[in-house]
Amino acid sequence: MPPRMPVPAPGNHVPLGAEEAETLQFPVERERPRMEEQAVVTTGAPATVETTGEIGPTGRPMPFLPDPRPVTEHGSARVISMCNQKGGVGKTTTTINLGAALAEFGRKVLLVDFDPQGSLSVGLGLNPHEMERTVYNLLMDRETTIDDVVVASGVPGMDLLPSNIDLSAAEVQLVHEVAREQTLQRVLAPAIERYDVILIDCQPSLGLLTVNALTASHGVIVPLECEYFALRGVALLKSTIDKVQERLNPGLEVDGVLGTMFDGRTLHGREVLDRLVHAWGDKVFHTVIRRTVKFSDSTVAGEPITSYASASSGAEAYRQLAKEVALRCLDA
Ligand SMILES: Nc1ncnc2c1ncn2[C@@H]1O[C@H](COP(=O)(O)OP(=O)(O)OP(=O)(O)O)[C@@H](O)[C@H]1O
Ligand SMILES: [Mg+2]
Repeated sequence: MPPRMPVPAPGNHVPLGAEEAETLQFPVERERPRMEEQAVVTTGAPATVETTGEIGPTGRPMPFLPDPRPVTEHGSARVISMCNQKGGVGKTTTTINLGAALAEFGRKVLLVDFDPQGSLSVGLGLNPHEMERTVYNLLMDRETTIDDVVVASGVPGMDLLPSNIDLSAAEVQLVHEVAREQTLQRVLAPAIERYDVILIDCQPSLGLLTVNALTASHGVIVPLECEYFALRGVALLKSTIDKVQERLNPGLEVDGVLGTMFDGRTLHGREVLDRLVHAWGDKVFHTVIRRTVKFSDSTVAGEPITSYASASSGAEAYRQLAKEVALRCLDA
């Protein structure tokens, strides 16, 4: 039997726990704004933003999202970490598919598998036992360069720095290094001029590897599963991001919060989105990724959904996210 989840009665808000209330920092019983107020209350978007005239799944007017600007020269990459210490929220799926969608739009993309589980590498068809050199070597061995580790991802325009279980040793070994939090930033520096976007897939923890990823990043995207317990732990994640900002990387920005595995038929999925918008406002992406088995199927096939099921709604959702990310923080 699956564990029973508290299901809110229609029209009722489920009271938040102390930690969630603290994270959200708004009166927890606040009403969802009426439709006509939403543009003002929840988007805060400048009046010049063109909307499609539709209300999106987050309850706000959908902005018009143009295709990303074509690029003629590559370089000056924005480094973005996918981060949430909660497991199974869609970090790896988002890294692969956002990367593949940005590559479709002509951006040169580097994916960094920064999780010893190696799911990103496996999800792109690599065998963890057949990797000659990985991110572990790049971090720990000064002789190893990015060129020694980088592999083609199978998607034109997208490369991968793969990992396997070896990376778990780095977490322990890095503790003894000088400037241990800046190690990834140092080794990734030569890649910045060669790519337009570098996406780092973090492991589900807030340990030293994740702190390294946040220190090496310009932005962070927080994928959150649209289910009731999703908000648990967000306070801790936010405080980790704040600490890295204060002490190690003042330029770090939250590029966005992404609702994943959304099921529009359930009330609590919509409630979670409501609460995310209340808490994070404009930071919540208008794009929401719906739940579909196509994602696990494409992982088994070892390729992004954008090529495995190119016309599927999941592929379209990640293309839309790519446009939103480009508008927000690549072409801005
Ligand atoms: N929108 C979705 N709909 C249905 N299944 C999904 C969706 N997104 C991801 N999944 C599936 O959920 C599982 C977990 O996703 P994923 O590996 O991306 O999460 P993660 O946050 O990277 O996990 P971990 O914390 O273990 O690294 C995978 O089997 C994936 O195929
Ligand atoms: Mg993962």
